[in-house]
Amino acid sequence: MTFPSTIEREKLPKHVAIIMDGNGRWARSRGKPRLFGHRNGVKNVRSVVNAAREIGVPYITLYAFSTENQNRPNDEKSGLMHLLEEFLKRELANMLKDGIRLRTIGDLSGLPVFAQKIVEETVEKTKHNSDWNLTLALNYGSRQEVLNGIQSFAQQVSESGKCPQKIDWSEFSNFLETKDLPDPDLIIRTSGEFRLSNFLLLQAAYAEIFVSPLHWPDFNRQAFIEALQNYIQRERRFGKTGDQISHSTKSTAQIQTT
Ligand code: IPE
Ligand code: IPE
Ligand code: MG
Repeated sequence: MTFPSTIEREKLPKHVAIIMDGNGRWARSRGKPRLFGHRNGVKNVRSVVNAAREIGVPYITLYAFSTENQNRPNDEKSGLMHLLEEFLKRELANMLKDGIRLRTIGDLSGLPVFAQKIVEETVEKTKHNSDWNLTLALNYGSRQEVLNGIQSFAQQVSESGKCPQKIDWSEFSNFLETKDLPDPDLIIRTSGEFRLSNFLLLQAAYAEIFVSPLHWPDFNRQAFIEALQNYIQRERRFGKTGDQISHSTKSTAQIQTT
């Protein structure tokens, strides 16, 4: 049977964020260097992105490099940045053909200049695309993002004389790097670890979390579909009771911000 059916389509998440973990372990289990795992991990991005597009999930965010990953050995970091460059060069034509807009979150100034350049170019060249949304988290850390947001916010408050007590969440969320993205509905982490590792901590307030035992290079289209199937079975209550949810339209239930 094909997935999704008409009923399933309505319940699909709008935004899936993925912690692509386990490249190193995948390589080690094959007696190969870690970068071999990263290379195969990058190859896998295409199949999951294609699956998400075909199925009808309009936003995918991929955690590619965290602020804490800066503490890895230099040769691994440099290998990852070259893989990023290769990926973006190879994928640009497809992004333009398929109407994919690339965005990034994270501090690009902490990447090597050649990587910053290709990322910025790709973001610029795809900025008018609106069919589908790919976001890469690069040198991203939620705590750093929140700190930056608070700093800009505090500055604006002091310059405008606005009363800090009057500011609500929706206003503050505009100071986060995800301001143009819906909150993630589903966060998938591969490789069996049950943690967020500094990823979208505030945006994940009501995200559903799915942990797959598969290492990222093995997390294929079928595994992605299984994660979505699991997601659509869940009841998202946003603090309400199950009865309240079943008497309203579940798919449109949302977090109340005021
Ligand atoms: C995820 O795989 C990719 C990045 C963090 C860049 P890992 O490199 O963390 O793989 P493991 O967790 O060591 O297996
Ligand atoms: C999270 O994976 C970051 C990315 C997938 C980019 P890590 O491998 O860095 O996470 P920890 O260190 O196991 O928490
Ligand atoms: Mg890891």
